[in-house]
Amino acid sequence: MNTVCVVGSGYVGLVTGACLAELGNRVVAVDVDAERIELLRRGEVPFFEPGLEELVRRMSASGRLTFTTSYATGAAKADVIFLCLPTPPLPNGAADTSILRTAVEELAPLLQAPYPVVVCKSTVPVGTCATLHRLLEQISPLLGAVPVVANPEFLREGSAIADFMHPDRVVIGSHAPGCAALVEALYKPLNAPILTTGLKTAEMIKYASNAFLATRISFINEIANICEHVGVDVAGVADGMGSDKRIGPSFLRPGVGYGGSCFPKDVQALAHLGAIHGVQPRLLRSVMEVNADQGKRVLHKLRTQLGRLDGATVAVWGIAYKPNTDDIREAPAVEIMRLVEQEGGTVRAYDPVAMPKAAALLPTVTMCADPYAAAAGADAVLLLTEWNEFKGVDLTRLATLMRRSILIDGRNAVDPGRAAAAGFHYAGIGRGSVPEPPALSPVEPNGRVDAIAAVPVPV
Ligand code: UGA
Repeated sequence: MNTVCVVGSGYVGLVTGACLAELGNRVVAVDVDAERIELLRRGEVPFFEPGLEELVRRMSASGRLTFTTSYATGAAKADVIFLCLPTPPLPNGAADTSILRTAVEELAPLLQAPYPVVVCKSTVPVGTCATLHRLLEQISPLLGAVPVVANPEFLREGSAIADFMHPDRVVIGSHAPGCAALVEALYKPLNAPILTTGLKTAEMIKYASNAFLATRISFINEIANICEHVGVDVAGVADGMGSDKRIGPSFLRPGVGYGGSCFPKDVQALAHLGAIHGVQPRLLRSVMEVNADQGKRVLHKLRTQLGRLDGATVAVWGIAYKPNTDDIREAPAVEIMRLVEQEGGTVRAYDPVAMPKAAALLPTVTMCADPYAAAAGADAVLLLTEWNEFKGVDLTRLATLMRRSILIDGRNAVDPGRAAAAGFHYAGIGRGSVPEPPALSPVEPNGRVDAIAAVPVPV
């Protein structure tokens, strides 16, 4: 049984800690937020992640998972210390690693030989782990003997426990062979391929993976946008492409764009990393531009159907940036709701779990008890997160509740045939049938994309 300290009880740290406890380790989870630690001690998880609360409670009851605000308690007896701390974007797009550095400064005086392995799980710019190692050495030359390992996470919100327990691969980067042996041993019970690399390679694998997935999404969104104009359904195109083993089917679902706390931040940080080294990140910039436009395209569709948003009531179904999470960070729905309101529309929204968080951010939006309540008296429904419950909605009943039967499906979650049979004017993404206004988001000479909100509303 290894003793593991996990610094940071956010989404990554908590999943990592609870899963490592499940694998038989003694885990001490540290967080500076005393309120959060109290909540966790009571068995409550401060965000929605399927199965996590139950796992935390079970591991706490087994005695293998404990919580503390004290670095000293966490570091004492630790064989491995995982750093699972945020690296939020700075105004210039770079990732801010100051929280990590502060944690290392706090930990340094507490470390004693035989030293634990320090593992960085946070997504960090290339070179950060080496910098953290140098920082330890500066604090005390003896601490140069502390192994620093890069072990990026590939967990998706909503399926994080399954992703931890059944990873496609585990990436472990270190500066010398052998440094990572203990970390490899922790993952051994998962029977997953373990890739051992250099420190910088591991850091880059994380950014490149997220940027590639984001690129696939922007690619299929652009293909979907073209499909709309040439009368082709993008679903068939994605199927046909995805059946090619070299391409594969994942991340080819068109929609209102990617969001969340990872893709937007990481693509931006990688672009920044390229730019400061003189590599113009043209492709990454295009990925971001397509993504910024994609959410606003549904507003175009709405204007096309309604004529104008001023005075209209719009029901928004789904606020979270994707299903199975209450995370609304960089959620396309948040920006879209703001734009509807800016144009004089009234928004009534429903999301199965994200409403408490959204209500604080969008005080003028009426949060409703279910999808039907949101749609009552509305001129249009905008479906922005593909929660399963929206797929089974009784469209005939829905039509009777609404002022006008318009359904803009930003995630292609509803069958267009069913929608038409219930009398809806339906528009999905790339489903080929809806005529679109021609002009969209002219790119300015400096590469910035004009807000679609600036496109005149037809009267
Ligand atoms: C992503 C990665 O998938 C994880 O591997 C990574 O560990 C994580 O970021 C991170 O860096 O922490 P996550 O943000 O939880 O995970 O969510 P995804 O399931 O990857 O979805 C991201 C966004 O892409 C969502 O807004 C989703 O709606 C969108 N998406 C995804 C599409 O629009 N189309 C697709 O085909 C797939």
